[in-house]
Amino acid sequence: MSILRTVDLTRSFGSLLATDSVSLDIQAGERHAIIGPNGAGKSSLLHQLGGQLRPSSGRIYFKDSDITGLGPERICRLGISRTFQTSNLFSRLSVLENVRLAVLSRRGNPLAPFVPLARLGAIEARSLEILEMVGLAGRKADPVRNLSYGEQRQIEIAIALATEPELLLLDEPTAGMSPAETARMIEFVARLPRTLTVLMIEHDMQVVFSLADRITVLHYGRLLATGTPGEITANKDVQDIYLGSAH
Ligand SMILES: Nc1ncnc2c1ncn2[C@@H]1O[C@H](COP(=O)(O)OP(=O)(O)OP(=O)(O)O)[C@@H](O)[C@H]1O
Ligand SMILES: [Mg+2]
Repeated sequence: MSILRTVDLTRSFGSLLATDSVSLDIQAGERHAIIGPNGAGKSSLLHQLGGQLRPSSGRIYFKDSDITGLGPERICRLGISRTFQTSNLFSRLSVLENVRLAVLSRRGNPLAPFVPLARLGAIEARSLEILEMVGLAGRKADPVRNLSYGEQRQIEIAIALATEPELLLLDEPTAGMSPAETARMIEFVARLPRTLTVLMIEHDMQVVFSLADRITVLHYGRLLATGTPGEITANKDVQDIYLGSAH
């Protein structure tokens, strides 16, 4: 069953087509990697799926609802959550405070001055549960800025998961990580339940080939190929433009 579909999704910046007629079909439960050289349009594609960037033309369907042009909050409420290529944490706040804000934004108005006491307990419990899932409950009181880069990226995923999405979008989750942190991230994504669909942009081929059921290759905004890791490795166009140049 397909959970996310794009039809001829196009976004231009002046004369540049950041995504050019991209038609994708992501199956429920799959781990799908998007690869491609710098500037291929990977983040632009994710920004359109998350509602941060309006498509110029084409459509986006999530579970058969047309979500084209909806804003990020509505898309998030429908069940798509994401992380960004660069950090979005409140670095002076504690780990727990960061997660709690995300849980609150899903379960109530984070700016409301009063949260009923009974609900506070539930929010606290849910926040701790999420931190346990990423193995960071022990660091809950630490300010985020005291954590390692890899731990901070894990918290961002924890925050994305706090909204209980059905589709998780990750923009380069292992960028800038040490090999040990990358290995931990692979293990973490691999353990996520299959009720969650994961679409990730990733440069590290070890990560892609460890995790992805299918891979989509973008090149100059266009979809060059989609297939299993075996199909992508064997694809001559992909070898020429991407894998070839990386080795
Ligand atoms: N806001 C913008 N205004 C103008 N051009 C943009 C904008 N955002 C992206 N672009 C251009 O669109 C193209 C695709 O950029 P995008 O960031 O989507 O690529 P990417 O595949 O994510 O690259 P990277 O691997 O470096 O993250 C690039 O040529 C980029 O310069
Ligand atoms: Mg990018």
